Amino acid sequence: MSDGFRLGIFVTIIRPEEKGILAAADARGIPVQRYDDGAVTFGLERPEALPDVLLNRSVSHTRSVYATRCFAHYGVPTVNAPEVVELAGDKILATLRLAERGVPVPRTEIALDAEAAMTALDRIGYPAVLKPAVGSWGRLMAKVDTPEAAQQILEHKVALGAPIHSVFYVQEYVTKPDRDLRAFVVGSEVVAAMYRRSTEWRTNAARGAVTEAAALSPELDELARRAAEAVGGGVLAVDMLESPRGPLVLEVNPTPEFKALTGATGADIAGRIVDYAVQVGRR
Ligand SMILES: Nc1ncnc2c1ncn2[C@@H]1O[C@H](COP(=O)(O)OP(=O)(O)O)[C@@H](O)[C@H]1O
Ligand SMILES: [Mg+2]
Repeated sequence: MSDGFRLGIFVTIIRPEEKGILAAADARGIPVQRYDDGAVTFGLERPEALPDVLLNRSVSHTRSVYATRCFAHYGVPTVNAPEVVELAGDKILATLRLAERGVPVPRTEIALDAEAAMTALDRIGYPAVLKPAVGSWGRLMAKVDTPEAAQQILEHKVALGAPIHSVFYVQEYVTKPDRDLRAFVVGSEVVAAMYRRSTEWRTNAARGAVTEAAALSPELDELARRAAEAVGGGVLAVDMLESPRGPLVLEVNPTPEFKALTGATGADIAGRIVDYAVQVGRR
């Protein structure tokens, strides 16, 4: 590509994913402008030499939200779009949206106080799952088997002090096989999918789950695409559970890792992301 098109990439660190993205851009002859999420500052005037599109790869939800807004302020399209980052990066907002769009999700209640969370847990029943609204890699999640255990976790959370720790996402524990499903959606297509198998109830690849390529049924393929579409579309990794009452969508990740998925499937996910970003930048 020699028409001066430039890709911006907003990063925390260069992981294998970002290395893949940089290599894919290089292979396509696309120059990359790198922005470090801890160093960049945004003035109100539009700076010179902006990229044609900004690919967000920051691991921080907060930084992702503000940075994509700042680039949008300069008229630079971002992948994902600021609204998508904001919504999909917050499990509460995302779950509301998925439910509004008729995407099946586990039974979930939101509570804004520890006592209210206990009431929500009673209604959901035990075992239940407590999740932070923002987070990944299965961190700070708890499967609680009894009200006593729940009470203690809620106390700990409230003691942390920050308002966000007193926002509770309470979910039914879904009886599932020893695996979940991750489908990687780029634009209107699922580009790769895998099972993540673990003896632990949290089957995140980052927690050491064993991964295996999955051939999605047309039903699951459609569900993943509908979930991505529901939060605004773009580059989104959709986590799904196979429950006794059919597939359920757990979350839709707006800045997904894909090293494990690339390894399991051999799909050129980095290349697909770069091609999609270019398409967005040329719109
Ligand atoms: N309600 C649930 N029932 C059963 N397993 C769950 C439930 N919620 C999450 N899990 C397990 O925990 C993992 C992480 O949950 P997820 O909602 O995807 O959060 P994270 O953003 O931390 O990945 C899932 O991949 C799944 O294996
Ligand atoms: Mg997940």
